[in-house]
Amino acid sequence: MPIEKVIVVEDDVIVRKNLEQQLRQRRYDVTSVSTLAEAQDSLCRDNFDLAFLDVRLPDGEGTDLLKSLQLRPQKLLTVITTGFGSVESAVDCMRNGAFDYLIKPFSAQQIEIVLKKAEDFTQLVKVNQFLSQEDEDAGYELLGQSPVMENLRQLIRKVARTQATVLIQGESGTGKELVARALYKESPRAQAPFIKINCAAVPENLIESEFFGHEKGAFTGALAKREGRFELAHGGTILLDEISEICSTVQAKLLRVLQEREFERVGGNRTLKVDVRVIATTNRQLEQSVERKEFRQDLFFRLNVVPIHVPPLRERREDIPFLAEQFLKRFGRKHGVRVQGISDPCWRALTQHHWPGNVRELQNVIERAVILCSEGGVLEAGHLGLTSPAPAAAGSLPAGAPAADDSAFPSLSELEKRHIFAALERCQDNRTHAARLLDISVRTLRNKLNEYHGGGAAKGTLGEGETDPQPAGVAG
Ligand SMILES: Nc1ncnc2c1ncn2[C@@H]1O[C@H](COP(=O)(O)OP(=O)(O)OP(=O)(O)O)[C@@H](O)[C@H]1O
Ligand SMILES: [Mg+2]
Repeated sequence: MPIEKVIVVEDDVIVRKNLEQQLRQRRYDVTSVSTLAEAQDSLCRDNFDLAFLDVRLPDGEGTDLLKSLQLRPQKLLTVITTGFGSVESAVDCMRNGAFDYLIKPFSAQQIEIVLKKAEDFTQLVKVNQFLSQEDEDAGYELLGQSPVMENLRQLIRKVARTQATVLIQGESGTGKELVARALYKESPRAQAPFIKINCAAVPENLIESEFFGHEKGAFTGALAKREGRFELAHGGTILLDEISEICSTVQAKLLRVLQEREFERVGGNRTLKVDVRVIATTNRQLEQSVERKEFRQDLFFRLNVVPIHVPPLRERREDIPFLAEQFLKRFGRKHGVRVQGISDPCWRALTQHHWPGNVRELQNVIERAVILCSEGGVLEAGHLGLTSPAPAAAGSLPAGAPAADDSAFPSLSELEKRHIFAALERCQDNRTHAARLLDISVRTLRNKLNEYHGGGAAKGTLGEGETDPQPAGVAG
């Protein structure tokens, strides 16, 4: 699958035709030539993924071409084929960058083996390139000792074993991505690629190409063919993060992939088949998006085969002390600060806060506090900088205790709204800065504002370099 275009450089007609035929049967796009000059010409005009290169050619040595290929920025996997093999020449070719070496006559089976090796290698290289740009969170575990988290871990173990599509729902910062990674790590596909795409972060006009790839010249700027994330994830798992954010065209195409496991690249007409396990996350109520006709119902059903809900931190307060201690250790190490412990008022502040940003907020608060704390000191409430209008009353109220005046008691969504407006005010209505302050994506912020404004123009401006793929005012 990762290999498409193959060039065969071979002057022996019979060998060339046989090779060509076998490659075409496997649906590769084959160019075949019989001289070095023709080979050089084709290599200048086209990008190939694999070459079969004969050594003795009418106008020179294939090994010279092999050496010059190594100087190109984009390496071409080259299999040397020769009728005059020796251990020395094989070693020489491998030293000069050949991928493999075959002595003529070779069997169809030998070619199959080489192709399989080349496919696996190319896929690995591509996945590695992708992973090297990935985030630093990848190694972390899903922490928490509350019964809720225990149940969640049990569910993850059970579901991980299957191939079922999973939809993870929960507020921002609750750990949905960690749940997805845990599903992957405990699955039979743990050794295969894990490819993530954040649907909210990719501009709407590029998302289709990110999902499915594109052919050279598919659109302005598509200078070369590019594999999409589904192709990279072949044999492994794909995480579709913030799935609620994809437009209806891509929703339709995604439905087809989920049903048929096939698609075409943008600008291409070849149908590609993939074997991927799909995990999606969303911090919006997808059922409501379906009701509002913003999200296809059939796609929702296809994604929601196994639903997993990650509860907000305020619904598992027992986890706060454990998480706080773990983060204290992690950030103490990271910043080289030795913190002796956490003072009682600081513990109270931590356990009473209502954590609208969930574990992510707790993690950030502890990191900042560690930085502000002096070496060998104790974390104090002042280090936390918790200024949200979170209800001291709500957090500290024992369950079931009668409140003095229930009507004056603000709802969670009301508090969230007030907090968002406070952040915007502090950032002079700059939505990018406010989103950063609140630790949510610009898109999440925009959606919330759209909700408050009932679909009207949202408050706030975008910061430099931020794209806003949907016009403000689209009901969120
Ligand atoms: N249970 C947990 N144990 C340890 N770290 C956690 C836990 N939950 C969340 N985190 C940390 O909090 C941060 C946010 O988690 P994650 O990205 O998984 O949240 P999310 O639910 O995907 O949020 P969003 O909807 O905003 O994308 C990450 O740095 C993650 O490592
Ligand atoms: Mg996430």
